[in-house]
Amino acid sequence: MSQRESKQSAVAPLSPEIYLRPLQGRDVEQVKGIEMAWPLLSHWDIEVYYGVAGGRQNAQGLVAIERESDLKERVVGFLVYRITLPDTEILNIAVDPACTRRQIGTQMLHHLEIQVTREGVQNLFLEVRPSNAPARDFYLKEKFMEVGRRKDYYSNPTEDALLMKREFGN
Ligand SMILES: CC(C)(COP(=O)(O)OP(=O)(O)OC[C@H]1O[C@@H](n2cnc3c(N)ncnc32)[C@H](O)[C@@H]1OP(=O)(O)O)[C@@H](O)C(=O)NCCC(=O)NCCS
Repeated sequence: MSQRESKQSAVAPLSPEIYLRPLQGRDVEQVKGIEMAWPLLSHWDIEVYYGVAGGRQNAQGLVAIERESDLKERVVGFLVYRITLPDTEILNIAVDPACTRRQIGTQMLHHLEIQVTREGVQNLFLEVRPSNAPARDFYLKEKFMEVGRRKDYYSNPTEDALLMKREFGN
């Protein structure tokens, strides 16, 4: 079994009611709602998300959907990323605050990893606030390493960014 297969099998599968798919226009208002629920997350104009969903931005989106009934579904997480071979940058990622610690973030990340490595990506990058301990723990568990620091990168409040990198193939 490869290291990746081993890692994936160690993660609890998503509940049968949750599945992942590309971001679509009909998801955007809920995605924006999740984004706004986290005050320290990067907040984008909603049109940016519509652009990502419509293929008009140089970025792609992924959503986690919870099926509440045959007729009702809702977005419980999202991830936006940009591929610039051989790298991919995670631009934004969040889970509905009511749904954290259910492995939804982990599964979105694993889905992304499988998808981008197929396209030849070798490195995943992201920035995170040093004060965002839960997110740092989340990334460290996923084998990201801190590789740099960007002075005063964030505003409201001003804070440095930690640059984190995950290399594939090791
Ligand atoms: C970071 C985030 C995406 C994680 O999503 P999640 O679905 O809750 O994460 P998972 O359930 O997959 O957690 C996987 C592991 O990450 C770590 N982790 C996640 N949340 C944590 C927390 N609040 N405190 C400590 N460790 C945490 C744990 O090791 C966890 O494993 P465990 O639950 O078996 O202990 C989510 O907390 C979130 O949306 N945060 C707000 C937005 C944000 O900060 N985004 C990152 C911007 S750079």
